[in-house]
Amino acid sequence: MKFHPSTTSTTALYLLSSLPTSYAWGSLGHETVAYVASNFVSSDTTSFFQTILHNQTDSYLAGVATWADSFRYTAAGRFSAPFHFIDAEDDPPTSCGVKYSRDCPVEGCIVGAILNYTTQLLDPDLDAVNRNIAAKFVIHFIGDIHQPLHDENLDRGGNSILVTFDNVQTNLHHVWDSNIPEKLVGGYSLPDAEKWATALTAAIKTGVYKTDADSWLEGVDLRDPVSTSIKWAEEANQFVCQAVLPEGKDAIVGKELGGAYYEAAVPVIELQVARAGYRLAQWLDLIAAGGKTEL
Ligand SMILES: *[C@@H]1O[C@H](CO)[C@@H](O)[C@H](O)[C@H]1NC(C)=O
Ligand SMILES: *[C@@H]1O[C@H](CO)[C@@H](O)[C@H](O)[C@H]1NC(C)=O
Ligand SMILES: [Zn+2]
Repeated sequence: MKFHPSTTSTTALYLLSSLPTSYAWGSLGHETVAYVASNFVSSDTTSFFQTILHNQTDSYLAGVATWADSFRYTAAGRFSAPFHFIDAEDDPPTSCGVKYSRDCPVEGCIVGAILNYTTQLLDPDLDAVNRNIAAKFVIHFIGDIHQPLHDENLDRGGNSILVTFDNVQTNLHHVWDSNIPEKLVGGYSLPDAEKWATALTAAIKTGVYKTDADSWLEGVDLRDPVSTSIKWAEEANQFVCQAVLPEGKDAIVGKELGGAYYEAAVPVIELQVARAGYRLAQWLDLIAAGGKTEL
């Protein structure tokens, strides 16, 4: 997820130099979303996706959650690079907003991709290889769409806004994908993701998110993946104005974001990862039921 739209050569080199630290919602964000979802899906859904993904362990979703970020850099997967985001042509922080007709180009976007791969999963004639790929895409894209800078065009989703985080040079997109979650959790391994997911799951079941969690599923409609996911994109995009660039781009360019900025961003990131996981669980439940409950 890290590399947003097509990169200039300078920025590509710059970003490559930051690769060893971690790779893109970095792996931690995606795997946490996946573990939260596995904590909420029904047992039928668990078996259904364990079969499709050929993995009977508790990590059947988390283990494939970042596959799409590797695939996009292969020759075979190049076509899928635009599927990781939607470039809202809005004007933050004055005005935020996403429009499918305006912001999803012919080469595709995340909303179109959620439609495409959900439709494929509902096709009983889809072969096992493509079913496996479609599942991996849906698991990944429902994570990406909840990261505010995956729903924003400005400076290629913040990839060209250079900043520092705890004295290390990076860019705004990477700060939201990886630096903030990794500082919060203290690592980015699969066990770190599982630990964070356990805390978020408890917050949904009995803690700070308990009252709101039901409302997170409002508007979820398997028959209409576009209206469902554009709503998720619009909600995340509002955070670009409210939390990512509340005082505009110039207020953060070249600044240190590991202090007060980090503190303010943490609640937004935790909320978005929790929502993504809870919604992914619902979406997978609906798919596993073959749309029968909806149609
Ligand atoms: C299932 O996924 C986990 C996480 O990626 C991995 O460690 C494990 O080896 C996988 N199991 C099988 C049978 O592929
Ligand atoms: C739908 O998925 C197929 C298979 O991956 C892909 O070839 C096609 O480009 C996708 N179409 C859209 C509109 O995303
Ligand atoms: Zn991605």
